[in-house]
Amino acid sequence: MVAANTSKKLFNVTLRVWRQAGPSAPGRFVDYPAKDVNPDMSFLELLDVVNDDLTRSGGEPIAFAHDCREGICGTCSCTINGKPHGPGQGIATCQLYMRTFKEGDVIIVEPFRARAFPLVKDLVIDRSAFDKIQQAGGFISVRTGAAPDANSIPVPKADADLAMDAAACIGCGACVAACKNSSAMLFVAAKVSQLGLLPQGQPERYSRVLNMVAKMDELGFGNCTNQYECSAVCPKLISHDFIARMNRDYLVASVKSAFAPVSNASGGGAG
Ligand code: SF4
Ligand code: FES
Repeated sequence: MVAANTSKKLFNVTLRVWRQAGPSAPGRFVDYPAKDVNPDMSFLELLDVVNDDLTRSGGEPIAFAHDCREGICGTCSCTINGKPHGPGQGIATCQLYMRTFKEGDVIIVEPFRARAFPLVKDLVIDRSAFDKIQQAGGFISVRTGAAPDANSIPVPKADADLAMDAAACIGCGACVAACKNSSAMLFVAAKVSQLGLLPQGQPERYSRVLNMVAKMDELGFGNCTNQYECSAVCPKLISHDFIARMNRDYLVASVKSAFAPVSNASGGGAG
């Protein structure tokens, strides 16, 4: 639990930011003093202010990724004081407020670091590996056309709730950044479970888990060694129980695949 700075007084901090002009350029930390910080500013607003000052003085603004600024899109990916998304629990970087810090703090800001997330510039990383994992199986086959009646396929409440919990994943990549193995298991488990818990996700249930895990491995993410750093930093509090759920599906899918006729060796089909 992080004690909040409840004083409304302006205060001063130093941002120690990772600067790197490009993927193969050398990187280093650079200090930026930030004066008269309003405790009600968001962390990204402080970066905006620092960037305004840098631009006015002819410097190169700090490149950082952001979009919705309300914890929905998963774009804002910074490690702050050694923790993906910074201090606090269940929040993305854009939901972090300066009242979390105090006078004189030196705040260390880095990009998410993982081999599968190559650095683009400064704090910006390339998370297209997540898109590729999704493309490998994160979908369902449906007939397009008019929307079906909402109650035409009953879904048990417990399953609907669990699927909704998994669907909360915003694909930010903090789980990967926090893991010593750079594993994407929590992300993949959330995506696999979100669909595998629902009737509509059954046709590809087993091919999905095999294909998404294979793609995760191929793209250079590590394996899970049950440290659960991932769920500890997840801004959507995705439970590591989903990893166990995915592993069970993976085991069933592997057995089905091993005994499937050659023409159906992808493991597709439920039941
Ligand atoms: S599981 Fe959590 S930390 Fe990982 S990508 Fe999804 S929202 Fe981000
Ligand atoms: S900017 Fe969208 S989640 Fe932070």
